[in-house]
Amino acid sequence: MILLDGKKVAQEIRSKLRDSVTFNIEKGLRAPKLAIVIVGHNPASETYVANKIKACQEVGIEVEKIVMEESIKERELLAMVRRLNRDKSVDGFIVQLPLPEHISEAKVLTAIDFRKDVDGLTPMSMGRAIQGLPAFRSATPSGILELLQAYAIPTEGKHVVVIGRSNIVGKPMAMMLMQRPYLSLPNMSASALGDATVTVCHSKTRRLGAICRTADIIIVAAGSPKLLKANMVKEGAVVIDVGINRMDDASFPRGYRLVGDVDFEAVAPKCSYITPVPGGVGPMTIAMLLKQTSLAYSAKVLGLKMK
Ligand code: GUN
Repeated sequence: MILLDGKKVAQEIRSKLRDSVTFNIEKGLRAPKLAIVIVGHNPASETYVANKIKACQEVGIEVEKIVMEESIKERELLAMVRRLNRDKSVDGFIVQLPLPEHISEAKVLTAIDFRKDVDGLTPMSMGRAIQGLPAFRSATPSGILELLQAYAIPTEGKHVVVIGRSNIVGKPMAMMLMQRPYLSLPNMSASALGDATVTVCHSKTRRLGAICRTADIIIVAAGSPKLLKANMVKEGAVVIDVGINRMDDASFPRGYRLVGDVDFEAVAPKCSYITPVPGGVGPMTIAMLLKQTSLAYSAKVLGLKMK
C-alpha cells in the first residue's frame, strides 16, 4: 500500500508556481492577485480561508480578503461580485461556501464572471467544462486528477466509483473522469486524465458495497465519517478520501481530530494506493486554486486565450 502524499505533491506545485511568479516579477510584471470573499464566521470556512491566504502568500500571489457580515443582504454580496468582476487588478476571486441561508448560492455563483472563476464552481464554468471548452475546473476534482497523475495512476478504461453528487466534488469529478482527455488551457495538464467508466453513487444508492467492490478506483465525497468499510473495497483498489469530518477527541489540542469518509485503518491494507486525511486531497485543492489563479493571470497579462 502506498500513501498518496497530497501534502508533498501540493508543495511541489507551489514551489513551481513560486518560481514562475518570481520570474514574471523579475521581468517587471506584477504579481497575480486573488480576492477571497467570506460571509459570516463559520469556523470551518475561516480555517479554509486562512489556509488559502497562507498558501497564496507562500507563492507570492497577492491576496485580498473581503469579510462581509452574516447579516448582509443578497444584493450587497451581488454588488461585491460585480465589483470584483470589473476590477482589473483582480485576476480571480472566490466566494467561500457555504453562504448564510438567506442568500442564494446559485444567484451568487451565477453572477461571477467565468474568466475569474478560479474555483471553477459557476454554472458557466461547469457547462463549458462539460463541453470541453476552456474554463477553470472545480478545484477538488482537478486536485485529485493531478494527484493520480503525480503517482502515474491511469484512469483510462478503469471503473471509477464516485460516492457523492455535490456540485463542488461529485458531479464535476464524474464528468472529468468520463471525458475524453483534452486541454482546458494550454498548460493545464490535469485534464489529460479521463476515459474512465464512471458510476456515481449517493445516499439513495442500493447495494453500495456491491458496486464499490467492482471499482478499480473509489472516490468518496459523501461527508459521512468512515462510510467506506474494508468489505466494500476490492484487493488492490485505489481509494481517494475527500471527507473532512471533525470528531470530538480530547487528546487533540483543538478538542477534535479530522477523519475522512473512509475507515482508513481497515481499508488501507487492501489498497494499492490510498489518500490520508489530513494531508491527501485537502492540500491539492488549495494548490489547484493557486494554479488556476496563476492561469487567470497568464490569460490576462501574458495573453493566453480564454475565449
Ligand atoms: N467550501 C468548501 N470547499 C470550498 C471550495 O473549494 N471553494 C469554495 N468557494 N467554497 C468551499
